[in-house]
Amino acid sequence: MDWVKTFYSATGEWWGAAEAKITDRDHDRVSLLRQHAGAGSMRVLELGCGYGTTAAALAAAGHVVTAVEVSDRARHAVDFARQATHGRLSIVQEDFYAVRLPQPFDVVCYWDGFGVGTDADQRRLLVRISREWLKPGGVALIDVYNPFVWARWDGDEEHKLPNPDLGYEHELHERTTFDPVACVATDTWWDAADPARKISQTLRCYTPADLALLLDGTGLALTAITVAGRTFDPATAQPGSSELLHEQHQYLAVMRRL
Ligand SMILES: C[S@@+](CC[C@H](N)C(=O)[O-])C[C@H]1O[C@@H](n2cnc3c(N)ncnc32)[C@H](O)[C@@H]1O
Repeated sequence: MDWVKTFYSATGEWWGAAEAKITDRDHDRVSLLRQHAGAGSMRVLELGCGYGTTAAALAAAGHVVTAVEVSDRARHAVDFARQATHGRLSIVQEDFYAVRLPQPFDVVCYWDGFGVGTDADQRRLLVRISREWLKPGGVALIDVYNPFVWARWDGDEEHKLPNPDLGYEHELHERTTFDPVACVATDTWWDAADPARKISQTLRCYTPADLALLLDGTGLALTAITVAGRTFDPATAQPGSSELLHEQHQYLAVMRRL
């Protein structure tokens, strides 16, 4: 997992000016947290918070948030914490596999990031969530990469032109591949000005059934899935299955402590 800090710090340099802004995506996540965890002010742990936009939106909504981020994107999160979050947002720039956090939380969330490393690594993280960080009755909200859509992107290439008005200064190339045996997507980027320096993120994707197997023995159970704004019980009805097959490259897994 050595690539994590390098990849997200380098891409954060490219995109931070454009993307370190609170948008509807962050407000939607605040609503998802309320939907799955209930109303009222919660103690929230956000893993891999990136620029800290969702953490800041959660703090502005009244939650008390600790956000952990290993890459240099954390400096944007620190800026948010200094602004109008009324002291409710703390940023910890550390690896979430190593960090020590003294108090338990009502909610642990990890938006758009779960799947780095091996299955054993994911289990290690899930066990920390269940045994160290979540209070009894607490809920974990974790975005999971959906293999059906990533597989369809195998071989795709994109050429992204700069758009300085929006804060995108770099001319970039992206190539996506998918390994159907390991169920891992590789997303490779390079700057047109420096084509020899290619950086990649590798993301293990899980179907809901595989995720349920992964959870075995971690102390967490998969209780709901939200796809494209619709929530269903993974054990019964599947109103979101068309979106899962064709459209949404990730889904929100709702997990509770057993
Ligand atoms: C795809 S980005 C998403 C960022 C943010 N959650 C969002 O939705 O905008 C995943 C983030 O997780 C962070 N991350 C990955 N592994 C980590 C680790 N072991 N410890 C702390 N942060 C980590 C990365 O540095 C990156 O900023």
